[in-house]
Amino acid sequence: MTVPALGDRRVRFGLAGCGVISDTYAAALAGLASAELVAVHDADQDRAAAFCRRHRTAQSASLEELVSRPDVDAVCVCVPSGLHAQVAVVAAEAGKHLVVEKPIEVDQAAARHLIEAAARNAVALNVVSQQRYNPGVLHARALLRAGRLGDVVFVEARVPWYRSQAYYDSAAWRGTWAMDGGGAFMNQGVHYADLLCWLFGQPSVLAAHCARLDHEMEAEDLALALLRFPSGAAGALVASTLCYPGFPAELNVHGTGGSLRLVDGALVDVQLQGADVPTPADLGRLGMPDGHRAQLADIVTSLQDGSAPPVSGEDGYRALSLVLDTYRAARWKR
Ligand SMILES: NC(=O)c1ccc[n+]([C@@H]2O[C@H](COP(=O)([O-])OP(=O)(O)OC[C@H]3O[C@@H](n4cnc5c(N)ncnc54)[C@H](O)[C@@H]3O)[C@@H](O)[C@H]2O)c1
Repeated sequence: MTVPALGDRRVRFGLAGCGVISDTYAAALAGLASAELVAVHDADQDRAAAFCRRHRTAQSASLEELVSRPDVDAVCVCVPSGLHAQVAVVAAEAGKHLVVEKPIEVDQAAARHLIEAAARNAVALNVVSQQRYNPGVLHARALLRAGRLGDVVFVEARVPWYRSQAYYDSAAWRGTWAMDGGGAFMNQGVHYADLLCWLFGQPSVLAAHCARLDHEMEAEDLALALLRFPSGAAGALVASTLCYPGFPAELNVHGTGGSLRLVDGALVDVQLQGADVPTPADLGRLGMPDGHRAQLADIVTSLQDGSAPPVSGEDGYRALSLVLDTYRAARWKR
């Protein structure tokens, strides 16, 4: 699908949902000369007002008011995950381009409805996956695409993080099936679900295990999936929010001609058969807001050019499907 190019001018953003992630957007957009955050809305008016004081933006009293502003080109959807489609479809129907936080939705039918609404209204649908923009991840992808690791045989992704009970208690939607769509795998692991689908293709889930071992919430705080990629390579993805104090996420890729290791998005080790590859020193991780800024910069360029979204609705749907396939394989109840 092509969308009309905005041309060589500043792209003006609105934002719905002034919670934890919203300050990252304010900082990321403030660092882009070609972008501007003009107005925000939150169902909690006081929270929106506080955001507007911090970042000198206009406050819209309702979502409808936000999306009817003629000076808004695109809307960032930063509401709880189970409301992404509901909010984003209103913006799409008003002709606004979309930047939807991860995961695209918590439900495949709702995600499909959103993808179709964006297409019907000829607006661009972008899904946030800022981990893709780490220089180390991009370098690893280039090595993989050039076949430098030979045939990839085994991929292992680990997200052994920690979230306290206070984190889950900080908002009523966290860790719920309806609004978070799951626990550690849906909220935290989805970053790596997306990386795996992007780098190696959509895997099938051979077996999985999910459990809620400690936190008081509905969904899981530990999940493991055993994967098979289209190439035949095997994979494993584990995500948890129980691993005190939390270790960096890792992605280890092993092939017949070489192996590489990413730690927290930084490429820390590359070993290729018959080649002396120095460990890249400067391919570190983009923290917040730099990761979001890198993706938003790419989105701004694509909107100006009218080119395809760098991380599309279909990309978001694939990552969501991997998470939901894992829950199904584990018979983890919704
Ligand atoms: N990319 C990342 O690394 C990253 C990090 C954190 C959060 N997120 C995503 O961002 C989203 C929000 O997470 P958060 O931690 O900021 O949540 P949060 O609870 O801190 O903020 C959500 C905000 O949305 C508001 N809201 C709820 N329903 C609304 C509605 N119908 N209309 C307008 N506003 C509404 C709430 O009042 C709240 O202020 C989630 O989808 C989450 O997965 C992504």
